[in-house]
Amino acid sequence: MGITDLLDQRRPLVIAHRGASGEAPENTMAAFRLAVEQGTDVVELDVHMTSDGYPVVIHDDLLSRTTSGAGLVRQASLAEIRRLDAGAWFGGRFAGERVPTLEEVVAWAKGRVALAIEIKNIPFRYRGIEASVTGVLERCNALGEHEVFSFDHVCARRFKAREPGLLTGVCYRGDVIDHVALAKEANATVLHPMLLDMRPEAIKEAHAAGLLVFPWAADDPEDIRALVALGIDGITTSYPARARAIIGG
Ligand code: G3P
Ligand code: CA
Repeated sequence: MGITDLLDQRRPLVIAHRGASGEAPENTMAAFRLAVEQGTDVVELDVHMTSDGYPVVIHDDLLSRTTSGAGLVRQASLAEIRRLDAGAWFGGRFAGERVPTLEEVVAWAKGRVALAIEIKNIPFRYRGIEASVTGVLERCNALGEHEVFSFDHVCARRFKAREPGLLTGVCYRGDVIDHVALAKEANATVLHPMLLDMRPEAIKEAHAAGLLVFPWAADDPEDIRALVALGIDGITTSYPARARAIIGG
């Protein structure tokens, strides 16, 4: 089921931030599987590109924080990255987890869960990332199921121009003067403000303009409850079981 179909359930979606990253190593298959077991609607993940042009699922541009490697993702080949351990840093029982390829995750997600795919075009812009990522979605017959979004709003706009049927979004920190204009300039449908940065009236304006609001990253039950009360459409959290218990469904 795609994200748009899920919204018909008329309750906020639970969006697992880098998977169930509070309880498993972020952006690994272990974190994604756990999120699904905990009843998440959507799995959020981050994408960088290898030196040989493969989209891989990792948050930082550097390998050192979440893998046994060092250096930049963009300077390592897929084969080099696949040899790294992406789980041991979080806990010994996760040793052996790998950095997934985007293709591996999109294929796994088929019939299982929707994805919110964040293009980490920062601090480096990856030339050709739009073609690589849409190529993956095409091969997995999944273009209509997932969202692609970015802090790089020009990149989000390029995705929409390339695939008009793709659900796209823009991510940002802090309050902005005109949230609706921000999305419209990028031809995007989803706003990803940080936590409670968006004013209640701005949420209403976004909805009136047909936009969806998926704030990040709410892990505290109080924050989750506050966002639900504000009428947002999806909550990005590292603890999907917690959000599921509060939201129900
Ligand atoms: O959902 C948006 C959020 O994931 C952006 O922040 O740094 O966790 O990727 P970050
Ligand atoms: Ca992210």
